[in-house]
Amino acid sequence: MEKRESFSSKVGIVLATAGSAVGLGNLWAFPYRAGQNGGGTFVLIYIICVIAIGVPAMISEFIIGKNSNATGAINAFGEIEEKNNQKKSWFKLGGIVGIISSFLILSFYAVIAGWAVDYFLKGIFGGYGSFDSTTSAQYFETLIMSIPRGTIYQIIIMAATIFVVSMGVKEGIEKISKIMMPLLFLILLILVGYGFVTGAFLESVKYLFKPTLNLGEGNNIAKVAISAMGQAFMSLSLGLTCIITYGSYVDKNDDVVKISKQVAIADTMVALLAGLAIFPIVFANGLEAGQGPGLVFISLPIAFANMPLGSIIGAMFFLLIIIAALTSSISLLENNVAILVGTGKLTRGKATIIAGAIISVVGFFTQYGVGFSLPILNFTGQTTFLDQLDKLTIIYLIPISAFICVLFVGYRANYKLIEAEFKNKKFAKYFYTYLRYVVPIFITVIFVSELFNNIFA
Ligand code: PHE
Repeated sequence: MEKRESFSSKVGIVLATAGSAVGLGNLWAFPYRAGQNGGGTFVLIYIICVIAIGVPAMISEFIIGKNSNATGAINAFGEIEEKNNQKKSWFKLGGIVGIISSFLILSFYAVIAGWAVDYFLKGIFGGYGSFDSTTSAQYFETLIMSIPRGTIYQIIIMAATIFVVSMGVKEGIEKISKIMMPLLFLILLILVGYGFVTGAFLESVKYLFKPTLNLGEGNNIAKVAISAMGQAFMSLSLGLTCIITYGSYVDKNDDVVKISKQVAIADTMVALLAGLAIFPIVFANGLEAGQGPGLVFISLPIAFANMPLGSIIGAMFFLLIIIAALTSSISLLENNVAILVGTGKLTRGKATIIAGAIISVVGFFTQYGVGFSLPILNFTGQTTFLDQLDKLTIIYLIPISAFICVLFVGYRANYKLIEAEFKNKKFAKYFYTYLRYVVPIFITVIFVSELFNNIFA
């Protein structure tokens, strides 16, 4: 069977996949999680998670995608089993769980990215001049509770996403990634340069790279590790089958081991650079590093209000977030669209509009202002729909899907699929063993402690 779609170049694959990986997770979540979890200690454990679990899990998803017929991430499992003369099995559950999570994540991802649109416009048109610690928090509260503003911004993000995905893999996703990713790096470097010249740069380097045992009140190493693994999965776009979908568009000769390494390096670099852009400003302005999700939306604008060129730097910062979020939301939508197109019943254009519209409607209900929540999701310990979906997907569904993908490649698929990816056959064997016996244990241990923390703590 001919592949339905494909990327046209290696650079395109790496940039598109890095585009998926680099997102709100790097620019918004990573800095605030690092801030909440003792800075350097979190960063160190995070990097270990990326190397020890993230890269092998990414290679697994790529292998599944590459050896499928590109009819969507759910079919991929069965297609590989068929080629291997096996009966189709329950493993496709990994695809189903991943698709459901990517659907749910996109619904609220676009809402959060929408907040960045508001702050970007604020920088361009009004500046952050009036922000102090009280007014900044008030501004954010008003924004996230405002249904009309929330809806308009969410629609802007979704419309842009739908537009790119409807253009197809080569003409849409690959082209836009080739423009956006270099732009993203450029803006990020300018912001790090700004922090270097005007902010508390050395203090930030120390904060991010010097592990400490001072993890903050009520925190412990286990909690830091849980947070770091969750962050690593999310940040590398794992457990959502997005990598399976993108992997299904690569060519037989493309080296997915190398691509995975490159993407992991780019993703980690952006997270660290985001820290080096944000913390110098935070420290120089006497703001609180461990303040949580409000770090980017509440704290930083206070600094932007008070620093030279604050409005421009602020606008650039939020533009950076918008660009990063867009290339991620594109991969989340593509993941769903690929399933619909894979049924053979819908054209790409129709599939994109249908999936995009349904996700937007669900997303509408994730706005805090709408005040919706699902009692059935109360086990997540959250009371708003956005927070419920956030916990449900990141804590429960993502690790499950990633786990099944690793097991599939380690135990169900033919060893030849792994062997084909390594020139050094001995190394292929090591990788195989590592994938079978070590990675699943890592994931299980952290997943189970997560359960304990969430349900029993
Ligand atoms: N990796 C993205 C981020 O860091 C989130 C994402 C996950 C996007 C999965 C696409 C697929 O924000």
